[in-house]
Amino acid sequence: MAVMLPSVLFVTSEMAPWVKTGGLGDVAAALPASLHQAGVDIRVLIPCYPALRAAFPDACTVAELPSLAPALPSARLLAARSDGLPLLLLDCPALFERPGNPYLDASGADHPDNALRFGLLSRVAARLGQRGSPLGWQPDVVHVNDWQSALAPAYLHYEGGAPSVITVHNIAFQGCFGHDMLAALGLPEQAWRFDGVEYYNQLSFLKAGLQFATRLSTVSPTYASEIQTEHFGYGLAPLLRYRAAALRGILNGIDTTSWNPATDAALHQPYSIETLADKALNKLALQDRMGLPVVGDRPLFGVISRLTHQKGLDLLLAVADGLPALPAQLVVLGSGDKDMEAGFLALAQRHPTHVAVRIGFDETLAHRIEAGADSFLMPSRFEPCGLNQMYSLRYGTPPVVRATGGLADTVVDCDSPLADDHGNGFWIDGDSPHALWSSLERVSHIWRDSSRWAQIQRNAMREDFSWKQPAKEYIALYREATTSAELQ
Ligand code: ADP
Ligand code: GLC
Repeated sequence: MAVMLPSVLFVTSEMAPWVKTGGLGDVAAALPASLHQAGVDIRVLIPCYPALRAAFPDACTVAELPSLAPALPSARLLAARSDGLPLLLLDCPALFERPGNPYLDASGADHPDNALRFGLLSRVAARLGQRGSPLGWQPDVVHVNDWQSALAPAYLHYEGGAPSVITVHNIAFQGCFGHDMLAALGLPEQAWRFDGVEYYNQLSFLKAGLQFATRLSTVSPTYASEIQTEHFGYGLAPLLRYRAAALRGILNGIDTTSWNPATDAALHQPYSIETLADKALNKLALQDRMGLPVVGDRPLFGVISRLTHQKGLDLLLAVADGLPALPAQLVVLGSGDKDMEAGFLALAQRHPTHVAVRIGFDETLAHRIEAGADSFLMPSRFEPCGLNQMYSLRYGTPPVVRATGGLADTVVDCDSPLADDHGNGFWIDGDSPHALWSSLERVSHIWRDSSRWAQIQRNAMREDFSWKQPAKEYIALYREATTSAELQ
């Protein structure tokens, strides 16, 4: 007898290719698509930002939503489809149609009304998971992601409704606001407790989700353990330890269609494990495009990143003046902290023949760097999963990583006794600039041994990071959530 798959409302604040500030955008596009393909009745709820309105001009209204809390405006739901995947666009121009990215205004400051914007997203998500859903469709599970939709499990707890799952993509972002938002967002005063939504005298969206979701997950097994420790838990470790029995670590997959070096239209010369030598042509093209000397006698390191403390790129800035002497070249694409942006631009000015830097967000260049670099740098202080190291592995560009979170779960150091000839990259031994520098020296040395390097590249390219396996694990988690809710 065929077993019914649970139906799912997947709630997200970003979704590639339309709205993406980081890995959540990629995951929110690929995971629901993969679940849909596996036969799950899944709908993705996302704010109707200008990019989505432009992408789906024919989206039609499927529900009118009255104001659902004292400070929340009325809104509408529009239905659209992306390659068959049903989308629900939360249409509320006053909150979502404005310049900037989903979280920040054009000047880089938080939108001042983020509590209302994502309060609305959470409130609507919960409403769809409740009896009398205005869609006439009620999911078996409401799956929320990060703090922006994490208030939904609290509404479902206090008002009743479907079981919920929360996935933590980054525990450092928690969505904390003043007490006045409690009533404004329609939560009961009784929720203001240590085992409610209160967190150090603030309303914390993320804590609410972790407290009340039926099941919790995060994006790698190692991060699932790490966030239960004080160092990585950003204040939420005690709650996560309390909820450990409900917490899972499910490693992200990657979109193996758009990230495929054999068919990638952005590349100067597509290549595969059988035509690995062609990868070198992409290096030459990248050097040329970035204004670096076109030479093949030194390794080229690549970085594509948000420039923030999390990513540890200040460690790179601290040692990068040594690159010309190594010798090695460096290409950096990123944006974020203004100090770090300025630091990298100044580095490139000091060493124009060895370092090239582009500040900004550029999807095409990201693909070209993955293909053109010899090795990819991710010295992250913490990394819940990390997607770029998986793109790098697939592109035969062995990554250099701190062994934390998903980096530890995907990269095998080629010098580790445990690697047993399966090494696919490099672990940085410590969190100091010195440790990073030692790794760069080690990589440059091994790079010069071309047959050993090619072996590491082949090991990397053989890894399978498709969404097939993670999608199965999410389905199992949805089942757990529905069964445990029935038992209550
Ligand atoms: P995070 O979500 O913490 O930023 P991930 O590695 O999970 O880290 O995902 C980052 C995603 O964003 C990757 O797809 C990466 O290629 C992309 N990305 C980050 N910065 C840039 C940039 N400046 N230009 C293009 N893509 C970028
Ligand atoms: C977050 C994390 C990153 C992860 C991504 C997708 O932005 O920082 O490590 O890969 O979410 O889950």
